[in-house]
Amino acid sequence: MREGAEVRSAWAALEAHHREIEGLHLRELFARDPNRFAELSVEACGIFMDFSKGRLTRGTLDLLGRLADAVDLRGWVERMFAGHPVNGTEGRAALHVALRNRGSEPIVVQGQDVMPEVNEVLARMARLSEAVRHGDWKGYTGKAIRSVVNIGIGGSDLGPAMVATALAAYGRPDLTGHFVSNLDGTDLAETLARVDPETTLFVIESKTFTTQETLTNARSARAWLVSRLGDERAVARHFVAVSTSAERVREFGIDLENMFGFWDWVGGRYSVWSAIGLPVAILVGMDRFERLLAGAHAMDEHFRTAPWTENLPAILGLLRVWYANLFGAPTHAVLPYDYALRLLPAYLQQLEMESNGKRVTRDGLPVTRPTSAVVWGAPGNNGQHAFYQLLHQGTRLVPADFIVAIEAQHELPGHQEGVLANALAQTEALMRGRSEEEARAELAAAGLAGEVLDAAVPHRVLPGNQPTTTLVYQRLTPEVLGALVALYEHEVFVQSVVWGINAFDQWGVELGKQLARVIQPELLPGAQVSGHDASTAGLIALVRRRRPLAR
Ligand code: F6P
Repeated sequence: MREGAEVRSAWAALEAHHREIEGLHLRELFARDPNRFAELSVEACGIFMDFSKGRLTRGTLDLLGRLADAVDLRGWVERMFAGHPVNGTEGRAALHVALRNRGSEPIVVQGQDVMPEVNEVLARMARLSEAVRHGDWKGYTGKAIRSVVNIGIGGSDLGPAMVATALAAYGRPDLTGHFVSNLDGTDLAETLARVDPETTLFVIESKTFTTQETLTNARSARAWLVSRLGDERAVARHFVAVSTSAERVREFGIDLENMFGFWDWVGGRYSVWSAIGLPVAILVGMDRFERLLAGAHAMDEHFRTAPWTENLPAILGLLRVWYANLFGAPTHAVLPYDYALRLLPAYLQQLEMESNGKRVTRDGLPVTRPTSAVVWGAPGNNGQHAFYQLLHQGTRLVPADFIVAIEAQHELPGHQEGVLANALAQTEALMRGRSEEEARAELAAAGLAGEVLDAAVPHRVLPGNQPTTTLVYQRLTPEVLGALVALYEHEVFVQSVVWGINAFDQWGVELGKQLARVIQPELLPGAQVSGHDASTAGLIALVRRRRPLAR
């Protein structure tokens, strides 16, 4: 569908407004409006969001709200929550919100209320996780479980790994979690070296149960366990599976008693709220996992009901559009000043880039504007000593989210004040920079003069004017984490609606998988190789020549 007149006029108004304010420095915007912080900050579900250090005015927000209305964001939100097939290319709903629907409201997909099934799986997760935690679930030799090894990739790894890491403060020292995802056997081998087969539970997670990486790792883990415990029957006490395909789980050799299901209306990157969260429930307890769901549900309700200009996901998503499309920013940084969130940037890379890295609209027409930014990041404090130089003095506009916990999850004195001071200092430095006069004055005060001072000045000037958004919460409780992740899920959806794309499919990842299936047998000695470009054919030949013969 081509853009209607209302949408075109909302974009035109934004473009005209952008021309008016793009030349303004953030220092100037702060000087002009003493209420800027109060006007450009909102709080909901335990998360305070300050976007006053963004390259915008209150008027920008109103114009972005107008764009949201023009693209019928409200209608799309309602359709998603109501279980309509918003994932058009796969004819599916995208109902991660049902997984954390802690109210009593039914959610209907194709005429059927999905809530009883959702609640039944949650009850089974509670039973298994409590049995493991209480030592009632015994391994094959009668010992309690001490290590949980999750085997999965993409959404079946990044979600549970990120959440389990974020909530590690709620864990127990006698129960450790490991996350194996990479096809390179080093990942699994290193993990197996750290665990004891008698006390290890493998959780094999795959929505499709066809994923090469996961099935290869799962087979190797199974062979390792059987060889160590000396009996095939041990598998039933040491392997559970989470998948939408009972048939493939059975074929693999895992008893359906030990399988936890979910549904095709849960996207892989949106699945941590389903039984894919099982390792989290085991490691931190089902009560904490349910608190995570409750936090996400609170954000869902906020997203659904708050006006756009007070709505955290809407503002965050519309700001992304503002920077990507009006300022042409190609990347977006995520910088958590909370070490427990160190896996969040990787998690958000999948969430944002697999969802919105698209080039055609829902109707298959080419998009008319750039879509998802390249999302990247690292824990804030480490990043300061690595890539922040480019943010301060490079030539690119890099919008960034700073994610800040007020209270730490540890008792060590003297750390948290430093973390907080650094987070706030960086947003201030990125906003104001250092002018030539300031640089001159500082160098003069340090005793430099004349030509030496003149030569030093350009290297000390920082332009500032880098937009940042600061998300602040008290402490990383399960509720806050749930709200934070749901906030990001919805801001991704907001962007997809503005661009008219489907955020819930990922057809682009298939070609590489198809080609790998062709190339793998071609690597064997004597195999026919055909149909490749000169580079790929040359590399196949090189690998074949130099590869030691199969052991
Ligand atoms: O190849 C991409 C992808 O399909 C992701 O969308 C998904 O999260 C991941 O692979 C793993 O898929 P599965 O859970 O089916 O193994």
